[in-house]
Amino acid sequence: MTIRKYLIPLILLALAAMPAAAQTVWDGVYTTEQAERGKDIYLSECVLCHGATMLGAEDGPAVTGEGFRASWDGRTADMLVERIRLTMPSDGPGFLSRAQSTDLTAYIFSDNGFPAGDAEMKSSLAALKKIVIKAEKD
Ligand code: HEC
Repeated sequence: MTIRKYLIPLILLALAAMPAAAQTVWDGVYTTEQAERGKDIYLSECVLCHGATMLGAEDGPAVTGEGFRASWDGRTADMLVERIRLTMPSDGPGFLSRAQSTDLTAYIFSDNGFPAGDAEMKSSLAALKKIVIKAEKD
């Protein structure tokens, strides 16, 4: 039967086309210690513009809350890390390492109610790209 000749390659093709199992911010993608490190950086470099509550201040928008989560919904963690690393602090960016920006992102995640887990969020772009920000837990 010729159909069998095509069936297996077709199944393999379909499997290959399936997206890799996505991880979301609801899966515990950072640790409490990591968020604490991020908080230390936040308090020295970010608090002036984004506020102690992270809800924003005179010079910067909220980095926590419903509106923030809605605007980042569906994007991946690398985008937030790189947004911070390349553009923040807005009055003199460029000195934060990717590891520091990842710690800051862990802190932002914790304040947004995304749960901590057992493993630190890795700062490689490949790893960060696999973490999807979802405003709501499914
Ligand atoms: C001098 C004020 C200032 C400082 C300090 C600052 N920010 Fe910002 N931040 C802004 C402004 C203004 C915006 C929005 C416009 C822009 O992107 O420049 C912004 C935007 C952001 C956004 C995007 C928000 C969104 O809804 O997409 C994030 C995330 C962020 N900042 C994080 C940080 C972090 C983390 C730090 C500390 C390392 C920091 N900012 C320090 C002023 C600041």
